Amino acid sequence: MSDYAKGLEGVVAGETQMSYINGQQGILEYVGIPIGELSSHSTFEETVFLLWNRRLPKRAELDAFTKDLRSRYQPPAPIIERLRGIPRDAQPMHVLRTLVSELALHDPDPNANDIPSAQSKSLTILAQAPAIVAAFDRVRRGLDPVRPDPSLSFAENFLTMLNDKRPTPTMARAFDICMILHADHGLNNSTFTARVIISTLSDVYSAMTGAIGSLRGPLHGGANEGVMHMLNEIPSLAEVEPYIMGKIQRKEKIMGFGHRVYKAKDPRATDLMTLAEKLANDTGNQDLYAKSSKIEKIMERELAAKGIFPNVDFYSATTYHCIGLKLDLFTPMFALSRLAGWSGHVIEQLSDNRLFRPTVKYTGPHDAPYVPIDRR
Ligand code: CMC
Repeated sequence: MSDYAKGLEGVVAGETQMSYINGQQGILEYVGIPIGELSSHSTFEETVFLLWNRRLPKRAELDAFTKDLRSRYQPPAPIIERLRGIPRDAQPMHVLRTLVSELALHDPDPNANDIPSAQSKSLTILAQAPAIVAAFDRVRRGLDPVRPDPSLSFAENFLTMLNDKRPTPTMARAFDICMILHADHGLNNSTFTARVIISTLSDVYSAMTGAIGSLRGPLHGGANEGVMHMLNEIPSLAEVEPYIMGKIQRKEKIMGFGHRVYKAKDPRATDLMTLAEKLANDTGNQDLYAKSSKIEKIMERELAAKGIFPNVDFYSATTYHCIGLKLDLFTPMFALSRLAGWSGHVIEQLSDNRLFRPTVKYTGPHDAPYVPIDRR
């Protein structure tokens, strides 16, 4: 048997042409383009095209892709109706996972795994997931869902459906940047989950549903909500030092720090830090940014030598808060964007599939006696 790598650390388990990560140098590229270039100049729609086609679109191609995406914004009516029967205190990640799964029930051919069908299903899920999250948030507040608007971009449409009000260009662009930064990231846990599921030739809906379930864990995408809980728990700037030092001494993990691959600062955290600072100034949330900044300085002093730096989730908490999102919508925002990466990986897997089936090291007994039940 080959060497056992706990948590599959360092194991190369697939190939991709979408994102490249150099964890030592803190580099992330989508199809060779540095992530900072994309967050500065691209849009989420263009980034999705790039990831799915492994090249930037020409203008007419981007227009056609965007038109197709927008034409699919509206989920089937029973999906929106169904939200009214869900308990209002349900967590949005559970709602998103359940209803992405349920989209399969409205697809006349949910199991079709040929590449054009898988691409089309991926585009539909990407287009409709925002309406599911926004409509649930409104229904739980006792409000009517807002219909998607195909004249709006992905970012504008989501924020409009959530608030029944067009976002300012600054807020829409901030949200768009968050979507670009979270779209794909190598073989992270949820992407691996999606690839494992589709490798059985199951279906796109099952792969996306499983990936959403993986993402919500606090060691993965759920960390952005953990960061916000932490920031809320720290009453003032003066309390940051004792709070963080207490956690380090008790050997508790600080959410939004550390990464299996990055041993330098995650480049997405650098971009999000700049965005969070600007939005915090614009929205009167300077306290939140100041606390985050102080946590980063303490962590650098205490744990940088161990290769622990801020990851994508750390400053995305402040950013999402400043955009006006409720805490339990932070991880769903990650999912809305990462659906792009999951889909791209599912297509890559289907294009050159081999069933994932690793082995496990058995550590139990052998030749054990079977003891009848009344003699145990
Ligand atoms: N705070 C304090 N110590 C940490 C942290 C942290 N955030 N992360 C790792 N360490 C320590 C850990 O205690 C361990 O120390 P020791 O060797 O003394 O026992 C060492 O670093 C290695 O940690 P590990 O958990 O074995 O490392 P890993 O590669 O398995 O874990 C991780 C990576 C992301 C799960 C971990 O860093 C972590 O739990 N971070 C907090 C949760 C978080 O922010 N997750 C988001 C990850 S990035 C975006 C995403 O995927 O969503």
